[in-house]
Amino acid sequence: MIESFEKIPVKIFTTSTEGSNAVAAQIASLIKERQAQKANCVLGMATGSTPILLYKELVRLHKEEGLSFKNVITINLDEYYPIDKTAYQSYWSFMHRHLFDLVDIKPENIHIPNGEWAQDSIKESCNAYEQIIEKVGGIDLQILGIGKNGHIGFNEPGSSFHSKTRVIHLDQQTRIANTYEFHDINKVPKLAITVGISSIMKAKKIVLLAWGNKAEIVAKAVEGVVTEQLPASVLQNHDDCTFVIDELASTDLTRNKSPWLTGNTDWTPALIKKAVVELALKLDKTILSLTANDYTENNLADLLVLKESVYDINLQVFYMLRDTITGWPGGKPNAVIPAHPERSNPHPKNVLIFSPHPDDDIISMGGTFMRLHDQGHEVHVGYQTSGNIAVTDEFVTRFLDFAVGFEELFGIDNKKSQTILTDARAFLAEKKSTHLDTAEIRAIKGLIRRCEAKATCRYVGLKDENHHFLDLPFYETGAIEKKPMSELDIKITMDFLNKLKPHQIYCAGDLADPHGTHKVCLEIIFESVRRLKAAGTDWVKDCWVWLYKGAWQEWEIAEIEMAVPMSPDQVLKKRFGIFIHQSQKDSVPFQGSDAREFWQRAEIRNANTADLYARLGLTKYAAIEAFVRWHY
Ligand code: F6R
Repeated sequence: MIESFEKIPVKIFTTSTEGSNAVAAQIASLIKERQAQKANCVLGMATGSTPILLYKELVRLHKEEGLSFKNVITINLDEYYPIDKTAYQSYWSFMHRHLFDLVDIKPENIHIPNGEWAQDSIKESCNAYEQIIEKVGGIDLQILGIGKNGHIGFNEPGSSFHSKTRVIHLDQQTRIANTYEFHDINKVPKLAITVGISSIMKAKKIVLLAWGNKAEIVAKAVEGVVTEQLPASVLQNHDDCTFVIDELASTDLTRNKSPWLTGNTDWTPALIKKAVVELALKLDKTILSLTANDYTENNLADLLVLKESVYDINLQVFYMLRDTITGWPGGKPNAVIPAHPERSNPHPKNVLIFSPHPDDDIISMGGTFMRLHDQGHEVHVGYQTSGNIAVTDEFVTRFLDFAVGFEELFGIDNKKSQTILTDARAFLAEKKSTHLDTAEIRAIKGLIRRCEAKATCRYVGLKDENHHFLDLPFYETGAIEKKPMSELDIKITMDFLNKLKPHQIYCAGDLADPHGTHKVCLEIIFESVRRLKAAGTDWVKDCWVWLYKGAWQEWEIAEIEMAVPMSPDQVLKKRFGIFIHQSQKDSVPFQGSDAREFWQRAEIRNANTADLYARLGLTKYAAIEAFVRWHY
């Protein structure tokens, strides 16, 4: 039945690391098979955030298992145009940084469209690139990523299925999505060179990778109509194409989104809740007013067989939703409420909020943060990264000016700070979008954010010793592109957890932030908690982990396991807490495609959750913060 929805074979892996490793193994065996035949292996390569783990694993296979790339010829898909080859953001640099410089591939076997090709002969250069593909005998295995608009390579929506290598005008959506590689949208090239769709389709085998926040476009490409408006949909016509995706990227496939449509449904309580909530929202009815007809007319007749009456199903789901709502996120003391989302005991609890960036705590769970503190729990915040790349240069000189003025005001020798200010101004005046900040400037940017986080904790009422800055090393690259998590990140986190021994942990379960920082932060926590559990650490047995979503999205209503309502006053108090993060107001670098400020996103999102609960027939609150429990 799934096949009738999915028109491209899809392999789903639990994590992007597992998916990447499987594809790396496939590539390795292809390379070796060709070596045995004394033949070359032609690989079509992609760039962007998606293949980074794949390249990392290929490098590991080379270094640790002796995989040689001497018989490998690579053909890259695309390049910005124009761009200096050596610019940090060029795909030429990307490929050398992540793969080519780290393996034994022959330089003459590397082919990447050249961002320095002369404009007056660009057509000829593009044609010559096509000929290279033909000369090497075509691509054996093409690796693809997918843009959120469905592009493959840089073939934007509207690209002809007959297109060949050419210069293309980048979609605004693509430029916004790739702003993270440059320092501001105006610096993102407007043009790019890309291999065409017809050239991609000639590859003997295609593997498209997609992780995390690509669920919507993956479902459309795999299950929707084939159209030039969604270039990846053309892959339905390829006879050897596979999508390798992680669980997150698979959530919009019918088999996961509405599994009852694929037949043979195993009706768990969670699935009943999902189906009934979706039905009520679709029909704009409260849960308790759904009728048997509503079920039968919407493919849910199966459910009617499960229970005595439709009202029993409605009540079951209504109670499930009702029982998620609590004003006592740390558990209600001295009360026995079996269906309450949290335990009453112990009280007060040792609560640890992990905040990936210095403002996620207040943005994503500010109301709950304040409640936990006000209800007497010992609340600690662990700021996982410094967040230093999201501070504008102007803030640096402003604060250095302050430091110099402060010392002058109190008769402190300010020669040193004066020099730091002068050096910083000189560096920033010359700084190009391809330059990384100096370590000194990064440290100052980190300090600015650290002070904002401290001020927020004080605003909530925390003692100074209850905020902690972990400055996880994976983040400290100075660039948007981060390192994968390392043993050191895990060690820092495990030591920290062992010191605090929390009864309750909150962390950002949001895997869709534009730079992937939240994802790595979450993986580090998961790995640390798992290891502590495996080692039999005592406190871990009594520790519950709750996930909140970061600034970018919210949990689906049916997924929510704890819903913490907020009064209008609490909404305002949270807003002022977010305002403390002045360096993040107005135009923040790298904020992604959403132009709204963080406090606006948070308020709209929390009001929206409250509104959805009310639409389903539950009490109407001003706002609700939502959490899902991670069972480990
Ligand atoms: C890159 C490329 C693009 C990307 C796509 C996804 O060579 O051709 O199609 O694969 O834009 O980008 P990420 O992986 O950064 O989400």
